[in-house]
Amino acid sequence: MTNVSGAGIVITGGGGGIGRAIARKFAAGGGRVVVNDLDPGAAAAVAAEIGGLAVPGDAGTEQGVRELVAAATEHLGEVDIYCSNAGTVGGAGPDTPEDQWQRAWEVNTLAHVRASRALLPGWLARGRGTFVVTASAAGLLTMLGAAPYSVTKHAAAAYAEWLAATYAHRGLTVHCICPQGVRTDMLAGSGRAGDVVLKGAAIEPEQVADALWDAMAEGRFLVLPHPEVLDYYQLRAGNTDKWLRGMSRLQQRIEEAE
Ligand SMILES: NC(=O)c1ccc[n+]([C@@H]2O[C@H](COP(=O)([O-])OP(=O)(O)OC[C@H]3O[C@@H](n4cnc5c(N)ncnc54)[C@H](O)[C@@H]3O)[C@@H](O)[C@H]2O)c1
Repeated sequence: MTNVSGAGIVITGGGGGIGRAIARKFAAGGGRVVVNDLDPGAAAAVAAEIGGLAVPGDAGTEQGVRELVAAATEHLGEVDIYCSNAGTVGGAGPDTPEDQWQRAWEVNTLAHVRASRALLPGWLARGRGTFVVTASAAGLLTMLGAAPYSVTKHAAAAYAEWLAATYAHRGLTVHCICPQGVRTDMLAGSGRAGDVVLKGAAIEPEQVADALWDAMAEGRFLVLPHPEVLDYYQLRAGNTDKWLRGMSRLQQRIEEAE
């Protein structure tokens, strides 16, 4: 397992929700945590609570990621574990404005590319590093009512797989977190589809942090806090048409609930 005790850790979107739960878990495990968030007050509150450093900023821009990695490296010496966790949900279907599609692409996908661009040279030189991507079950399956989110989370999971496949033999460890509903502000704002599909089986952010911890201990790439996601994922691969028929029925239930 990546050693959390004493490790230098960065968490984007660490001021609330899943990121805050991961920050607390890692700090309790002896990690030295840098808490990034778009909301400076939220980052500062979590950093104060866990004895970490707040580095507010936008993890969805190239400059924001570059500045975060630079500030974290200066403070920690080395970044051992980087949790690229911040995400955004917005837009529904093809009519979603171009700027919202672009923002989803930047925050949900390119943030991971940019962070790894900054960190990989050091990790490969040292022969170790841990990169954690918070994707979503929407990145393995799909999220009804949220095309930009589903597409950019698929890209996030694809990028995490690519990194693991390319650099595992050179010491990089990658974990890809793919939960369904988690009780955070994001879920609260997920609308009718969220109500019908996610809220019934929603879990607490702490359960996601625990699932990440277990996956790290086992050296497992996929982090599935909802175990049933594995069944859906296997069904999707093995019998795509049956899976799509089930998704269509779910879509009809959402429309009936409107
Ligand atoms: N909540 C769910 O049901 C759920 C399910 C699957 C995956 N996820 C993913 O988990 C991650 C965390 O989501 P959450 O539910 O904890 O969300 P949340 O809405 O609770 O947000 C967590 C924090 O991220 C910050 N943030 C948002 N955009 C940012 C940015 N560009 N840069 C820096 N900080 C930013 C917010 O200010 C907030 O404090 C996201 O990637 C999300 O897509 C969430």
